[in-house]
Amino acid sequence: MMERREKLYEGKAKILYATDDPDLVIQYFKDEATAFNALKKGVIENKGIYNNAISSTLFAWLEEQGVRTHFVRKLSDREMLVRRLRIIPIEVVARNIVAGSLAKRLGLAEGTPLPRPIVELYYKRDDLGDPMINEDHVAVLDLATAAEVRSMREQALEVNRRLSKYLEERGLRLIDFKLEFGRHKGGLLLGDEITPDGCRFWDIATAEKLDKDRFRRDLGGVEAAYQEVYRRICGGG
Ligand code: TMP
Repeated sequence: MMERREKLYEGKAKILYATDDPDLVIQYFKDEATAFNALKKGVIENKGIYNNAISSTLFAWLEEQGVRTHFVRKLSDREMLVRRLRIIPIEVVARNIVAGSLAKRLGLAEGTPLPRPIVELYYKRDDLGDPMINEDHVAVLDLATAAEVRSMREQALEVNRRLSKYLEERGLRLIDFKLEFGRHKGGLLLGDEITPDGCRFWDIATAEKLDKDRFRRDLGGVEAAYQEVYRRICGGG
């Protein structure tokens, strides 16, 4: 039994609670959704339940594949027990197919396959709108060591390889995704979540978007998309 203690932090989609074990925290998944640095706000019915289940399944599977994550176990519909990390304030984005900000920045058509995956770094700073940064900025701001950046890049590419194949077997194309890492007992662990909030998933058969772009772009069928990803990954609903 793992009891929820005081609230440590509330983000846009999740709340972190302390437990009686200083090394463990509870990650609670909310239904709230934001986009464009919280300019757009809404609720996606049951998103917290789907995202907790999707993330728990993917973290447990990645652990089996040798990727070290903060995941301990799923506690309830909306709660996941995780190791307490000191989060590195860098969003690591990996991309296989042009979409979103990359389409805009480089003037490429959304849906264009990239000849090889791209990894990008963003400074996790809401007040600055999460600007893209490179290794020099990371060093000057002292956000992470060169070895940590190398490790995060390698792990992002490794997760990309494994997850792309896993999702393909479930009829989903992994277009791009965002990861966050944190320090734990002298090592780096994959943290945060892996869900349709922070990934782009397109149906392989129809190219239909099954992720948060349905909310960002007012495409409708938002909850149904999260439920469909849940069904394909967790085999439920
Ligand atoms: P982007 O195309 O908007 O840069 O997004 C790339 C990927 O990163 C996409 O799968 C969504 C995810 N993402 C987040 O998880 N949080 C964010 O704040 C942003 C901008 C993107």
